[in-house]
Parts: sequence; C-alpha cells; structure tokens
Amino acid sequence: MSVLIVVESMFGNSLAVAEAIAEGIRAAGVPVRVSKVADTPTVVDPEVSLLLVGGPTHAFSMTRRNTRADAIRQGATEGQEVTGIREWIDRADPRPELPVVTFDTRVKVKLVPGSAAKSAASSLQHHGFARAHRGETFFVEGTPGPLASGESDRARAWGEELASHA
Ligand SMILES: Cc1cc2nc3c(=O)[nH]c(=O)nc-3n(C[C@H](O)[C@H](O)[C@H](O)COP(=O)(O)O)c2cc1C
Repeated sequence: MSVLIVVESMFGNSLAVAEAIAEGIRAAGVPVRVSKVADTPTVVDPEVSLLLVGGPTHAFSMTRRNTRADAIRQGATEGQEVTGIREWIDRADPRPELPVVTFDTRVKVKLVPGSAAKSAASSLQHHGFARAHRGETFFVEGTPGPLASGESDRARAWGEELASHA
C-alpha cells in the first residue's frame, strides 16, 4: 500500500503543493513518493494503491507544449517544454481498478473558468483509469506564484484525509 504523486510544475508551485500533500500522507503513516512527470514511468508500480496526478492550469486546461514554452519565456525553470501530465496520461498503461485523484494550481481570477484537475480527471477516465476523479484546486497569487496564503496547510490537511483512502 503506497501513494504515488505524479506532478508537473513550471514555476514550482504545483511541486510545493505535491510535497505538502505528501507530508500530510506521510504524517498519517502511509508511504508516499512525489515524482516529477518527466521522470515518471508510464507503468504505475503494482504496489501503488492510490495515484495522485496534478499540475498547473494553462489556458483553462492542462498545459500543452506551446503553453509550457510560454511559461519558460516567462521565467519558469522547474518544468520543461516536452512533457506534461497531458502527455503522461496519453502514454500511461491504464489501471481501471486504481483510485486516482487529480489536483491543480491556478490563479484566483473571478469568472475565469477551467481547471487542469478537471481536464486531467476526464482524460484519465477516457484513457481507462475508470476510478479517476477530480480533487482540489490550490491557488497561486500570480503566474509565477507564490502559493496563496494558507494553501500549503490546506494541501497538507488534504493529504492526511486522502491517506485514509490509500
Ligand atoms: C501560458 C500560461 C497560461 C495560463 N493560463 C491560466 C489559466 O487559464 N487559468 C489560470 O487560472 N491560470 C493560468 N495560468 C497561471 C498558472 O496556473 C500558474 O502559473 C500555475 O498555477 C503555477 O504553477 P506551477 O508553478 O506549478 O507552474 C497560466 C500560466 C501560463 C504560463
């Protein structure tokens, strides 16, 4: 029984959220690993009993190659242009029985729709992860971050709650 968190992050905010979630899961006594999407094999280890997939919202959805290139032009150094969670999901070996929960980061702007977590959950389901569902959105102050006040604590608490489903 263990949790794998696959995360994409261009400026480091989604990675910080993933690490805070992992802290909460670990505090509840469940083994957890955070894996950057570009380094994550497309076959999920059989001992993983809960998969989390998260990353930034770009252009109302998951990132694309061109939006990642745009982020890099804006100073992002954490991620890379080639692979994001969209591409990882497309290539992943589906595990229909595995619970999967998505999360994302985005800016808090009124009336701006769209969430990478929502798109990722739907894409995972279409790709054969039948038990995928949308989890939490965490807010950043602006495109490069930082995380909005309290979001790190909220991520940790959510991790503790998720651990009971692992
Ligand atoms: C090209 C680009 C497009 C973006 N589009 C959106 C958007 O549609 N909605 C939104 O809330 N935030 C948008 N953002 C802000 C990102 O969500 C923010 O940079 C991200 O949450 C930071 O997380 P990261 O540090 O993990 O990359 C965009 C950022 C970039 C660079």
